[in-house]
Amino acid sequence: MSPSGADGAGRLLVHIKPADVVTGMYIHGFVGSWFDHPFWRKKFLLEDEDDVIKIRQSRVEAVIIDGERGAVPAPKPAVAPSLPPAPRLATQPNPMARRYAPPTATTKATSFRQETKRAARIVEKSKKQVGAMFEAARMGQAIKIADVAPLIDEIRESVERNNKALTNLVRLKSKDEYTYMHSVAVCALMINFARKLDLDEATIRNMGMAGLLHDLGKMAVPQMILDKAGRLTDEEFTTIRSHPERGHALIGDNPEIPDVARDVCLHHHEKMDGTGYPFGLQGNEISMAARMGAICDVYDAVTSNRPYKDPWSPCMALGRMAQWRGHFDERLMQVFINSLGLYPAGGLVRLNDHRLALVIDNCEDDPSAIRVRPFYCTSRLQLLDPVEIMIVQDRGPQILGTERPEFWHFDDWDALRGSILAQGPGLSAAA
Ligand SMILES: [Fe+2]
Repeated sequence: MSPSGADGAGRLLVHIKPADVVTGMYIHGFVGSWFDHPFWRKKFLLEDEDDVIKIRQSRVEAVIIDGERGAVPAPKPAVAPSLPPAPRLATQPNPMARRYAPPTATTKATSFRQETKRAARIVEKSKKQVGAMFEAARMGQAIKIADVAPLIDEIRESVERNNKALTNLVRLKSKDEYTYMHSVAVCALMINFARKLDLDEATIRNMGMAGLLHDLGKMAVPQMILDKAGRLTDEEFTTIRSHPERGHALIGDNPEIPDVARDVCLHHHEKMDGTGYPFGLQGNEISMAARMGAICDVYDAVTSNRPYKDPWSPCMALGRMAQWRGHFDERLMQVFINSLGLYPAGGLVRLNDHRLALVIDNCEDDPSAIRVRPFYCTSRLQLLDPVEIMIVQDRGPQILGTERPEFWHFDDWDALRGSILAQGPGLSAAA
């Protein structure tokens, strides 16, 4: 344990080794890269033994605990060496932050309809700029941050004004603009995701850049293979699967590109269970940014028009993606769903009246009409008689966000979920 100290608010903050954490401690922060720690939350009470194991196995250098809000480690007979002072999260200079001061344009919240008009202009501009950037990369020219950084700020401001307008617009893509528009879409989704994670402004911009460049390697894949509607040959499949490494090579050692963009470009097709490519990394071997990139990439791909399939609706996509085992980081998946403000049918949500509920159906055109079936009281920790209610905006119970069934330790979640969905009339749509 390092010497303890008090922060500006008078809290007792102690640096300890990851190996020394135990349940009952209040986590105040982590020392090391944000991408190395296994949680999206910054501060929380450590209650779960699984979380203890995750911290011990993580690559963080030290854990900062708040002795006022939780347990502190027992003193050891020998004095352990002090840990170095906490480094900043950023591991390299951030050229975007250096060149671009925080935007002065207004980011006052606007309605979906108002922002859609503005977002349409940003999307039109994006097509041209991102198209030119990708073509330049195809010709072997270096990517110039100055050409696209203002665009990333415009996308960020649009997402801040209304987080659904631009992300909704960019789902509509024609065949010939798919790769560019997919990049703009993943840029906007990454920014929205990073904002939900409460990351700092420079990191949010870098995440946007990572989204914009994640599929740069597609420039090295023949268009006829990218657009092929039929079954790919083994050779074509191999060519497509080479795009992360090709993109990484195209970025090269360009000092203007943040490391997080290289990481997401190279690793956005890795899966948590190790079945992804190009390296078959698994779990904590995949950075937080790459896990976020994987979610945004797949979400936009499955909700977009493609030559070989009809798009899934956003709620259908989120519902299905949340059920895939081993592909995504499940905690980040829940944050992503919450970042979009959509609640897929069949998903678990927490209400503001201490109840958990299953979403029965969700009208995408009218977010104020969500049918749910509350079934569990979180204060009494007991199952409730099934009822069905409509969540109406600003009146009655409200949805606080999605929940992970694992957190509640239901004996057999799939069976419980099935029985709740099977009860009562009119539930077949969610089955
Ligand atoms: Fe990709």
